[in-house]
Amino acid sequence: MNSKFDIVVIGAGAAGLFCAGLAGQMGQRVLVIDHAKKPAEKVRISGGGRCNFTNIHTSPDRFISANPHFAKSALARYTPNDFCELMARHHLTWNEKTLGQLFCDQKSGAVIRLLLDELETGQGELWLETKVENIDPSGDGFSVKTTRGTVEVNKVVIATGGLSIPKMGATGFAYHVARQFGHEVVPRRAGLVPFTFEGEALERFASISGTALPVRAATGGRTFEEAMLFTHRGLSGPAILQVSSYWEEGAPVTLDLLTGAGGEDALLALKRAHPKKTLGGAMDGLLPGRLLRLLTETGHIPQTGPLAEVSDRDISTVAAGLGAFEVTPSGTEGYRTAEVTLGGVDTDGLSSKTMESKHQSGLYFIGECVDVTGWLGGYNFQWAWASAHAAAMAV
Ligand code: FDA
Repeated sequence: MNSKFDIVVIGAGAAGLFCAGLAGQMGQRVLVIDHAKKPAEKVRISGGGRCNFTNIHTSPDRFISANPHFAKSALARYTPNDFCELMARHHLTWNEKTLGQLFCDQKSGAVIRLLLDELETGQGELWLETKVENIDPSGDGFSVKTTRGTVEVNKVVIATGGLSIPKMGATGFAYHVARQFGHEVVPRRAGLVPFTFEGEALERFASISGTALPVRAATGGRTFEEAMLFTHRGLSGPAILQVSSYWEEGAPVTLDLLTGAGGEDALLALKRAHPKKTLGGAMDGLLPGRLLRLLTETGHIPQTGPLAEVSDRDISTVAAGLGAFEVTPSGTEGYRTAEVTLGGVDTDGLSSKTMESKHQSGLYFIGECVDVTGWLGGYNFQWAWASAHAAAMAV
């Protein structure tokens, strides 16, 4: 029997390592357990290898949850600025890309190093390639049976993340533990994920795969203006990933293809600038060439005579069609490529101040396993840091 720890944190990802480091530095004897060979592999691959570690526009409305108020407390008590200060203490630098996204100038491995250094400062221990077999209440705490022996602790923090990227070791462990202790689990689905198409739509999109353009993409009452990419399987790019989290199966997605081109006004202006050209010919340069050709083939941009002979009303009709271009995905690429898992441990069963279970004292859930999912752009790591901080202050 091993009782040299006060707390066991299960999951050595962003949330688990951060929580363990903070708790250790406050005097708790912390053990982190992960079944993977290496810690924080999702941090490593994040942000194209540069870890988009937070977003300066963090606010509760950038998160999806059955209870939109739940994240408020933790997010208010640990802000993007707090994590930037930590980065600076570790001599890491960052840059702001579009939309408030902060990326680490050093490779994302530097952020993993930071998390491991913080763990070490708190004298926390890390057991990798270790499986947790059982968590049983025992006395005032828990008995945690692992493949490296049984650990007796006062507190257990579950930080095993969501279901996305099973190839990297994602499991439904957190949901299993939640149910074991009487928690509800909000139905889960892949979020921040590319759309797939079938039949004619797939053929068309695949035929211009690699083409990208700025769009406004809307579904489920939400609109995002960012880049969209045609792929061999359908549609991707930031605008698509963002709306995918609000998409319901069978629902259409509306795309404004003229977002970057200047909308209806730009099309009407073509008539004055190029009265002798056809509409399709005059639009050369407004949209990517391959897309322009496809839209002409499909009749979305009609074959016209010289623009001088085309009425403003007809041009406006074309603009309206391209501005509200409707597509209905047949599905998504699923957890195989999804950046996050929507749904998860129901927040009704957790304290928003401490992330502690309302059913089992001493048990905490943090990070992506909880039913709080951020937009694309650093919000999910900010939730990992903030929820980890909330639990660490309490354990
Ligand atoms: P996380 O998944 O990080 O960690 C969970 C840990 O638990 C893992 O180490 C896993 O091995 C372990 N584990 C799982 N099951 C276990 C079990 N049964 N027993 C023991 N251990 C177990 N977000 C963002 O804000 N900015 C970004 O740039 C990106 N980029 C990005 C790219 C890609 C490709 C993906 C897939 C995701 C992102 N994200 C992101 C999302 C972000 O990575 C994610 O939200 C956080 O890593 C979640 O942190 P957690 O600590 O909750 O889980």
